[in-house]
Order: sequence, then structure tokens, then C-alpha cells
Amino acid sequence: SASDDAGSDQARLIVVSNRLPVTLSRSGSEWTFKLSSGGLVSALSGLKREMSFTWVGWPGSDFGSDDRRKINSLLQENSCSAVYLDDETAELYYNGFANSILWPLFHYHSGEMIFEEAAWDAYQRANAAFANALLDVVKDGDLVWIQDYHLMLLPRMLRQLLDARGLRRVKIGWFLHTPFPSSELYRILPVRSEILEGVLSADLLGFHTHDYARHFLSSCTRILGLTTTTSAVESDGRMVHVGTFPIGIEPGQFVDALQTEVVKDRLAEFERKFEGTKVIVGVDRLDYIKGVPQKLLAFEHFLATHPEYVGRVVLVQVAVPSRGDVEEYRQLIANVYELVGRVNGRFGTVEYTPIHFMHKSVTFPELVSLYAVADVCLITSTRDGMNLVSYEYVASQQQRHGVLVLSEFTGAAQSLNGAIMINSWNMEEVSDALHQALSMPAEQREANFNKLHRYVTKHTAAYWGLSFIGELKRVSREADELAQL
Ligand code: G6P
Repeated sequence: SASDDAGSDQARLIVVSNRLPVTLSRSGSEWTFKLSSGGLVSALSGLKREMSFTWVGWPGSDFGSDDRRKINSLLQENSCSAVYLDDETAELYYNGFANSILWPLFHYHSGEMIFEEAAWDAYQRANAAFANALLDVVKDGDLVWIQDYHLMLLPRMLRQLLDARGLRRVKIGWFLHTPFPSSELYRILPVRSEILEGVLSADLLGFHTHDYARHFLSSCTRILGLTTTTSAVESDGRMVHVGTFPIGIEPGQFVDALQTEVVKDRLAEFERKFEGTKVIVGVDRLDYIKGVPQKLLAFEHFLATHPEYVGRVVLVQVAVPSRGDVEEYRQLIANVYELVGRVNGRFGTVEYTPIHFMHKSVTFPELVSLYAVADVCLITSTRDGMNLVSYEYVASQQQRHGVLVLSEFTGAAQSLNGAIMINSWNMEEVSDALHQALSMPAEQREANFNKLHRYVTKHTAAYWGLSFIGELKRVSREADELAQL
């Protein structure tokens, strides 16, 4: 199994991501931290229980030198290590290049992409800072697993530094948590070659779906003129392997939470509150890729075309604040607020509020209770690397066997057989899907749920991590054997 393979020798694993899995906060002179949210963070926390590793990342702020000392020892106790970036570099690298250029481009929002040289410079500086920080951590023979679009130059920068020090047995993996777009779109990027070459110094590149991997391979052929197969690229005389590894969640966290008193009580409260009313739940980071406006418009259309549901169904939408320093996100907030007001104004009465909208993050027990009470979970992303809300909903639905309505533009749509698939741009179709979901007979809901549940239970976060690491070890062994011939 993947797990035997990954555990078979003593190579250390170093995970590198933009964000450390912790949020630091101070009360007086004491620093404390808590695990932060986000798909990547929860997936890797799952893996962390299965194998030991060090996690290297940006702590989210510059801090002063006194604070850094305290923070560093706190992090070290928890096998984490910080890469500090000065505020200006962090701003231009994270908000500028990563979230205003790569993120929109990779999600087919090229209209939102503003290419600025200063942001590109900062992206290079930040990736170089990560490479230098890693030199203090990495030993020969280690596995270094780099995460996501923030760190696409890091494989190459790290490899150069390691080679210069004669550390030639370090293996490098890189995984993309977003879509990789069609080469026709990707080629818009002014630094398209540099970014591709940046990741091609890794030994294994991972994507959520075959389509993303295929788009990446055609970009290598068309932009760099490299020779590719369906699972490898030849670059600089080396084979760079490319694979598909769909991420998952730790379903046990949800199942366990449902057994706690706090969730049981909250769920009972929700059940009383929504008695006689159907509940549709939406949980999204408030990001333009999540299609929240499309969701609100489709819900409005549903109420307009199915008046028998007015007063009998509510949409509970949690919109988790995200990347508020980027202009596109601010405009989205205004747009969403307006739509929520419009729908509630149009269909609301003193007794009935069609949309319960929360622009905040909710606690884990609150989240699980919401998932558990909902008859339907509605996901309308216009592009989404994977979308783990769909998995979390399934993990919380043992009792109710609720219906998942899932955008075909999510990575999850490739795996989650048992959901009603929708084109989130087609309001009519989404509205029909809601009707179908709300009126689905219990036997069919159960049959669908069982399919979904089997998949989500098997393809966990740990399974994802161990599969990737197992494959990284396999391709590395193969390369070492070839080198000895
Ligand atoms: C996506 C990205 C992650 C990121 C997360 C939260 O899932 O793939 O790398 O951590 O969003 O976004 P943030 O900008 O807050 O880290």
C-alpha cells in the first residue's frame, strides 16, 4: 500500500508552503498559536499524524527580532520553521504576484490579471528567501515537498543552491492545489517560461486531476518546446515525472465532532429552528472563483420559478473572509452584499428570511452542525482546484443522506460520482438541480450518499500525502538506478 511504501525508510520529509499551518497571536508578552483553516492546511495536518516531518513556511507577518526568537522556539517545538519576509516583499509577492497574477490566471480570470514588474521581482525575492531558509533545514537524502502556486520558482532555486553544496541526493516534489489552465490561457503570462522552468527542477510534479496535468504538459511542449509523454517531461537531460493525486479530508474529524455534546446540542437547536423548512448550505472562502454571485442568482431564480418553495426553503451561506487586501475581493464583497439584500428584500417577510448570510468564519462545531442539518449542499465554483467543502458535507451526512449539488468546474467533480453536477453559469440548470435535490426520494439519496461516502472515506488527506510521497520515492529510486548504469 501507499502507506507501507512511504514508511519503508528513514528519509526525512520537509513540507514547504507559503502559509505555515498556524496562526500566531499575542496576549501581553506571551505568544500562542492555533491551527489555521484552509484546504491545504487541514490536508497536511492529516498527513502529519501518519509520518513525521518539518513544515517550513511564512508566519504571515514580519515581527520584530525579540518576537521572532520567542516565535521560533514555539514553532520548533511543533516541528515548524518560519521564513520571514519584509512587509513590502510579502505584500508584493503574496497579494501582488501570487494572488493578483497567478491565482486569477490559473482560475481562468485573465481579465483580473495585472502584471507588474515589481510584483514579479518580489515573487523572485520571496522564493529565494525560501530557498535560503531551506538550506538551514535540509540534509542530503531528505525529501522536500513544495506546495502550490506561491512557490513555483523554489524547486529550481533550491536545486541550484543544493547542487552548489554537493547535496545531490535531495529529492524535490511540487504539488499544485489550484487548476493548471489550458496552455492557450497560460501563455498569456509574461513570465510563462520562467515559471515552467522553475518547477521543472523538481523530480515529481503533482496535480489534482488529469486535465490539469495534461494542460501543464502541453504548456511545456508549446512554450518550452520540450518532449513530453503522458506522465513525464524531459528537461535538461532529466526526466521530471507528472502525476495526478486528488487531495482529500480527514473524515474522522467530522464524524468525531458529530458525537460531541456541543455539536449535538447545536444540531438540535438548528433542527428546531428550521422545522418544516428545507436547508441549503453553502460554505465558501469569499473568493470570486467560488461563484457566490452565481449561487445567489440561481437561488433567486429558483424561488421565482418555484413559488411553492417560498417560505419553505432557506439558503444558509457562510462566506469566510479572504484576501481582503486585494481589490477584486473587495468588489466581490460589495456585489455579494447587494445580491443578498436584493433576494431577501424580494422574497422575505417578517417570518421568512430566504438567505442567512454570514461574512465571517464559524467555529468547527458550528460548521459541522450546519453541514449536518442541511438537506442540500450547493457548490457553484466557476473554477476550483478541488473543493473540499463537498467532501466535508458528505462526511457530516451519515444521518440525513443529503444531496450534493456540485459545479462541474471543481476538481472534485472528477471524483464525486453521486453528486448532481451543474454548470454554475446556467441558472436554469442550477435551479432545476435544486428542485431535483429537494424532492429526491430517500432511497435514491441513500444510494448516492453511499457512493460519495465510500470515496470520501477512502481518499483521505493522509492517503493523498502518502501516495505522493510514495511516488516521489519510487521515481527517485528509478532515477538513482539509471544514474548508476
Ligand atoms: C487555496 C490555496 C492555498 C491557500 C488557501 C487559503 O486553497 O491553494 O494555498 O492557503 O487557498 O488562502 P490564503 O491566501 O489565505 O492562504
